[in-house]
Amino acid sequence: MLSANYQTPRVVVAGRASKLSCNKTSPGRVGKKRCVVLALALACTNVISGVCPAAQTEPALMLVTRPPMGWSSWNSFSNTVDAQVVMDQARAMVSSGMQKAGYEYVNIDEGWWLGTRDSQGNIVVDSKAWPALAHGEHPGDMSNIVRFIHGLGLKAGIYTDAGESGCSMFPDLGPKYFHSGSEGHYEQDFLQFAKWGFDFVKVDWCGGDKDNLDPAVQYAEIGRAILRAEAITGHRLFYSTCEWGKNSPWTWAPGIGGVPAAIWRTSGDIVAPVVAGHEHADRKATFAGMLSNFDQGIHPEAQHTGYYNDPDMMVLGMPGLTEAQNRVHMSLWAISGAPLIVGADLAKLSPLLLALLTRPSVLAVNQDPAGLQAVKVAEPAPGLQVWSKPLAETGARAVLLLNRTGSDQPLSVQLSDLQLQTSMPRITDAWTGEQLNSKEDSYTTRVAAGDAKMLLVVGMERPMKRYEPLPIQGAEAETQPGAVLRQHPVRFGSVEGRGGMMRIQIIYTNPDQVIRYARLRVNGQGATVIAFPPSGQARPGMLWIQAKLERTDTGNLLDFSTDCDPGPILDSISLQ
Ligand code: GLA
Repeated sequence: MLSANYQTPRVVVAGRASKLSCNKTSPGRVGKKRCVVLALALACTNVISGVCPAAQTEPALMLVTRPPMGWSSWNSFSNTVDAQVVMDQARAMVSSGMQKAGYEYVNIDEGWWLGTRDSQGNIVVDSKAWPALAHGEHPGDMSNIVRFIHGLGLKAGIYTDAGESGCSMFPDLGPKYFHSGSEGHYEQDFLQFAKWGFDFVKVDWCGGDKDNLDPAVQYAEIGRAILRAEAITGHRLFYSTCEWGKNSPWTWAPGIGGVPAAIWRTSGDIVAPVVAGHEHADRKATFAGMLSNFDQGIHPEAQHTGYYNDPDMMVLGMPGLTEAQNRVHMSLWAISGAPLIVGADLAKLSPLLLALLTRPSVLAVNQDPAGLQAVKVAEPAPGLQVWSKPLAETGARAVLLLNRTGSDQPLSVQLSDLQLQTSMPRITDAWTGEQLNSKEDSYTTRVAAGDAKMLLVVGMERPMKRYEPLPIQGAEAETQPGAVLRQHPVRFGSVEGRGGMMRIQIIYTNPDQVIRYARLRVNGQGATVIAFPPSGQARPGMLWIQAKLERTDTGNLLDFSTDCDPGPILDSISLQ
């Protein structure tokens, strides 16, 4: 059903139609399988139109894991977290309507474990903080709280550190505790988390940082431990890494350890915990701090196929931000496709704050199935910014007009900056639902100082230009065209760029039951690992990514490679 809304089945069909013979001038394309597909397509055009299984050749937009939505104990409970806190918050997630709106993770952060292990190295927790919650349960068994959370139809998250000691050696409240990290126990701990039934794990970096470990190495090892734990228990842990962007995780975190979906922190904490009744209870989040985390979280080239930049838990609902600033905060996290992990005390959220957290049109932008991040497309004057998040629906963009200056200002969005054609677009205010009047080529409105307008724009896409893989040099005749293999990267050459971030549609096949991966490099620079979910054989899959392409006479070279056979079979890429 999804595919009907998405762009370019026509382009793809046209592309195939233009190749209705095995083109001898393009030897790389003359593979056996290719010819069979083309022959079928030819046959179909001669049969009764509409009876032909043409739809089967239309690519289907692949469903990628969406950014996680939930709550974390850290910002409002620090290391005072215990079973009572978690039960209260889980209940509040349900009774407040947040669960209904899509929030599901109840994440236990630092403070649940004080670093003690038994003689076999198993984690031992305080049985008073984590008692039996139902008949037949044992105190000190973390599966008790997981059962409680699952019983409400929610998911449970847990926390550890990649180093030997965790952040509790630098406590926010109370005494120091050492050894609350998983180094030396990766297999054991992540298997334990999965056996307890957790669905999510955040892996912090205090110990890794202190011991000068390499995060790309440690987090890959942990990723593999997570996969092995899943193979043993059948239980998947969503992987959240947290080294605060110190080592540019957007360059190595997508696909790390072979985990199919993950988030990585891109900056420090927006605010240190504000725990009612404890010291520092007068701490406040700041608008400037929140904006800075937003800025540091923008790495669109790494955000695709279920991998997300994480600018930190939201401070919405915590002391410090005005109502308008909370709305801007929610708008920024929505357009950046950031994890929506709320740090506030859910039991204390006002109806107004809940309305901000649960507005369906805004959540839909965050959870859009294309899984892309917003890009800044214009800044006509310093602090007057236009951001655009391409959405999966054809011609749709979520646009944020952000005024970071100290005075009210007019702000315009040009349809050309959104890669849309000049023609009357449909523009809706994402928060109020109001239909807005625009011109054929632009929309202008006044935006208050320190405020933003979030728009849903639906216009006409510009035509896409389609590229096929370059012939594989020296490939054996049997090599399937477009197949990414260890011996044979697949390359797309002379790809026209605009000198900025561009949206790229990839049409591919993955006939396996499991995800296949390929590493993309543009002009030999950088790399990002893209996950290609199973597409089946009958119908190709379609994914969106974004990459920075130069404006050069010779065009750009996109190189897809793999260390691990087989990679996906790439049919084509298309760009506007
Ligand atoms: C780090 C993380 C926070 C939180 C604390 C716990 O600072 O960035 O999100 O997990 O550790 O100590």
